[in-house]
Amino acid sequence: MCGIVGYIGKEQAAPILLEGLSRLEYRGYDSAGVAVFDAGTGSLAVRKAKGRLQVLSDQLHGGADLDSTVGVGHTRWATHGAPSDVNSHPQVSRSGRIAVVHNGIIENYAELKAFLTAQGVPFTSETDTEVVAQLIEYFYQGDLLAAVGRVLHRIQGAYALGILCADCPGQIVAVRKDSPLILGYGEGCNFIASDVTAILRHTRRVGYMEDGELAVLTREGIRCYNHLMQPIEKETVTVDWEIDAAEKGGYEHFMFKEIMEQPDALRRCLSPRIREGEIVFEDFSLDEEYIRSMRRIYIVACGSSYHVGMVGKYHLERLTRIPVEVALGSEFRYMAPIVDEHTLVIVISQSGETLDTMAALREARRLGGHILSIVNVVGSSIARESDQVLYTWAGPEIAVATTKAYTTQLALLSLLALWLARQLGTVPEEDCRAMLAAFQELPGKMEEVLSRRDDIQYFASQYFNHDSIFFIGRNLDYALGLEGSLKLKEISYIHSEAYASGELKHGTISLIEDGTLVVALSTYEVLFAKAMSNVVEVKARGASVLALATAPHREEMARTADSVMTIPEIHALLLPVLGVVPLQLFAYYVALMRGCDIDKPRNLAKSVTVE
Ligand code: AGP
Repeated sequence: MCGIVGYIGKEQAAPILLEGLSRLEYRGYDSAGVAVFDAGTGSLAVRKAKGRLQVLSDQLHGGADLDSTVGVGHTRWATHGAPSDVNSHPQVSRSGRIAVVHNGIIENYAELKAFLTAQGVPFTSETDTEVVAQLIEYFYQGDLLAAVGRVLHRIQGAYALGILCADCPGQIVAVRKDSPLILGYGEGCNFIASDVTAILRHTRRVGYMEDGELAVLTREGIRCYNHLMQPIEKETVTVDWEIDAAEKGGYEHFMFKEIMEQPDALRRCLSPRIREGEIVFEDFSLDEEYIRSMRRIYIVACGSSYHVGMVGKYHLERLTRIPVEVALGSEFRYMAPIVDEHTLVIVISQSGETLDTMAALREARRLGGHILSIVNVVGSSIARESDQVLYTWAGPEIAVATTKAYTTQLALLSLLALWLARQLGTVPEEDCRAMLAAFQELPGKMEEVLSRRDDIQYFASQYFNHDSIFFIGRNLDYALGLEGSLKLKEISYIHSEAYASGELKHGTISLIEDGTLVVALSTYEVLFAKAMSNVVEVKARGASVLALATAPHREEMARTADSVMTIPEIHALLLPVLGVVPLQLFAYYVALMRGCDIDKPRNLAKSVTVE
């Protein structure tokens, strides 16, 4: 995600843009930039810088260096092109007369870039956004709105755009599709912003742009159009949020906001990579000869990213029949790992800065492994030191307890497993198509789970006073339990353990006594009967059981368990992606009821850059 601000009025634009961007840094903070119209030269003044917004603000002396009353600004969360000055927004057209700020992903930017390059258009950045600026200029013949309209027929993907043109400095053009964009209505001035936080100091009267809509902002007003370029009347509302609440999108905590963002994060992560039944990894390639030479896969990570690897092992081995080892970053170096040039090493990290994981990456490279990382932060250390990188595009994750990064990592690793299986021909094509269909329905099914979050809140109210909780499950459900247990521990401070259900009788069941809470995970269809027997086993020793099952098994489970959480059915490949959401919510509500500091749990950091 990135942050966009635009202003047109009578006051100095740059300070307003910089202040607005400072309210959006939670959306992205690896680089920032502004473009204003310089009446003195009749051209655009574009200033941008890698690093936090403060770097840019210091360079511009708080905006005092730019004399202008119209401009657009951007704070970036890199998706295409590592953080750098040249990849920062605004991106400009070849003449420098058109500047664009963008939040989202242009899915077909590569083909459009190839087309424009063939027309002799020079490109300076690695971004998908520059294609938009160049394409607007390609179509521009004096009417900016008309040129933008022609571009919208050609770009695919998610985009919120703010567009400034030196030929018509009395206006800003805005466009919205799948990425939020708000219109701010002031007195003699008007605004665009990614969310209300950026403009709340100047106006509380806002309009929410809908997908496909365009807007032309002038000092006198805002004209809106639908996707057919027909003028429309925009409803406005008065915002009564305080700024702090708005940064969290109205949610009480970043963690809850990020839990709720997961369907959109999955869409950002998956939709550019699944097209007409094909899996398209634009930013990644492994040739078939190498894939067939692979003798082993190592997955290396820490914490929740390690739990992604635990699920990934089941999927990769089942689909590709290649042996998979999963190792903790902190253990890998000391286990004399068997790695050579025929070993694919998958390194998973949200931050891309976890030192234990980085150390493991370097050891794996020393041993000759081929390093593929799955990372959220573009241009992070682990990404830079990998041979190949698959970015999750989940957007910045602020809460220490990972949620949307976890589910997008897991979905991406599952997609990679399917892609490898297809390359190797180890899975019948009809099964591949069934799994691809499951990816398409995943965000919608997750929204269904999220819509029933009140059920989870009720269960949390029943169990938040327990001081020891067990998560049990088999196979995929065991790996799911590891993550559910960690989520609970790290934000509620309740001791919890995840156990392979079949292992209980080998010792741990001695701990089960009257009232012990057992969260029994039974989503994996083929092992449901076994899961049921384990529920009976712990109930017989006095446990309280909170089960997680797919909807068709609710009644049967409810006959034995004390409470049942459910998820819709989905292909087994994606059960852990869907199944983790009730566990995230359970941990969140339990921590809330225990009065814990949810976004910043004690003793923890978002990125562990120490050994
Ligand atoms: C997860 O909620 C924790 N914050 C922690 O386990 C985290 O997953 C771990 O530190 C690894 O971080 P990374 O994914 O950024 O490498």
